[in-house]
Amino acid sequence: MRRLLIVSNRLPLTFTDNGDGRCQTDLSAGGLATALRSIARRHHVHWIGWPGSDCDASVRDIVASSVALDCELVPVSLSEADRREFYRGFCNEIIWPLFHDLPPTSSFEPAYWWRYFDVNTRYAESICREASPDDLVWVHDYHLMLQGKLLSTHFSHDQLAFFLHIPFPPLAVLARFPWKVEILDSLLSFGTVGLQTVQDSQNFLACVRAYFPQADIRSTTSGIMISRGKTETVVRHCPIGIEFHEFENLALRSDVVAEAKRVRRDMNVQRLVLGVDRLDYTKGIPERLEAFRDFLTRYPGHRQETGLLQVVVPRAINKQFGTPSWIPIRYQYAHLSRERLVAYYRAADIALVTPLKDGMNLVAKEFCASRVDDTGILILSEFAGAAVQLRTGAHLVNPRQIPSIVSALHAACDPNERDVRRRMRRMRRNVRVSDIHRWCDEMLRGTPAEREISASEVSTDAGVPHLWPVHIPQLTTAANGEIP
Ligand code: G6P
Repeated sequence: MRRLLIVSNRLPLTFTDNGDGRCQTDLSAGGLATALRSIARRHHVHWIGWPGSDCDASVRDIVASSVALDCELVPVSLSEADRREFYRGFCNEIIWPLFHDLPPTSSFEPAYWWRYFDVNTRYAESICREASPDDLVWVHDYHLMLQGKLLSTHFSHDQLAFFLHIPFPPLAVLARFPWKVEILDSLLSFGTVGLQTVQDSQNFLACVRAYFPQADIRSTTSGIMISRGKTETVVRHCPIGIEFHEFENLALRSDVVAEAKRVRRDMNVQRLVLGVDRLDYTKGIPERLEAFRDFLTRYPGHRQETGLLQVVVPRAINKQFGTPSWIPIRYQYAHLSRERLVAYYRAADIALVTPLKDGMNLVAKEFCASRVDDTGILILSEFAGAAVQLRTGAHLVNPRQIPSIVSALHAACDPNERDVRRRMRRMRRNVRVSDIHRWCDEMLRGTPAEREISASEVSTDAGVPHLWPVHIPQLTTAANGEIP
């Protein structure tokens, strides 16, 4: 089987120093790591990434974890300065907000850009050391967008695929970003670029047209083809899915059903609304809490009987409405096991998923996969990538327009049972059909997954070198010289 080299900033496991000199190993949180772990079960995967802490995981820890996950983990370490300037600075303070259509939380610090370039170079060197000549290199997310450029002289163009898990911004937003041309140039050095939604692909193409007017863009059966000289990139919108059957099977397990009942008992309400979010300002949590407060104010009849279980840090609404037997909002700041998460999904009547902007949002899909009895109402932000696929079943709201969330909540308190089932069935069908494996197959369709690459195909076209303020470094290849 052809090897798949998955490259992401974070490995699927996070290694933390637990104080006594040993490393503790936890599954990494977040949609990307969760989704990609499923792929490792079906493909021969080597996974290159950061172990996610200041702990230098020992070779033994890494090997043991590789065996447990059924894929080989290859750690890339990040120094304190890398974490400050590359991870927190460039990735989290500049790209993350900008790509989510929010103002960057720091200025466009050139030192951050140089660190981004430098860390990307080290990832590229690790990839070259690890790769065999016919591997497929699949790079994920905004942390590593320079890989296309850095790897293009070492790999055949169609051995290189990239997927962006977050939204791609519109031209007017990308225009503010000082390094847009370099980033676009690098993305166009991948053979395949995958984006979550049609809107993301349209934004990407508009930016390519604006900054690379000579590029030839045409529709083909495998996606939109962009040609620049000898270099061709297929752009696909490819919404990421989840491991549907895993959620469904868990939701049917008797211990999970019992746990769901216990959650209902503990919450002590007739109607349970659920929010599950990674703590992040793009998730619209303050707006959601405000909507819940307005809902209780406007519809006092729903007090006592409706409760929100929000798995993050909230504000002080409990004081205003709480009584000894009813606490309107329960919150947890904790990492949930898969079983507990599914028990919550099963226990809830309504899922409130209202990010201000989200690449996809897998919580919405996981909720549907867990509703094995076709019940449950999904209130979903129209700005989540998932809204495109789930719009025929979900109740779409504008997360910034609080009255729209309040009305959706109010309507959900008096549901038409047949309508609820019809909607949930539609959503479940969609999530089942476009699951994580279909996503993977779609992304890799037409890439060299099926055919062998000969050395003569390796591109020597270095793209548009004058764009780059420095020379693209010559990467170190494997000692045995096997790398193209
Ligand atoms: C989620 C998003 C990914 C992103 C990751 C970053 O999983 O879906 O697009 O890469 O969060 O989280 P981290 O904790 O690694 O900064």
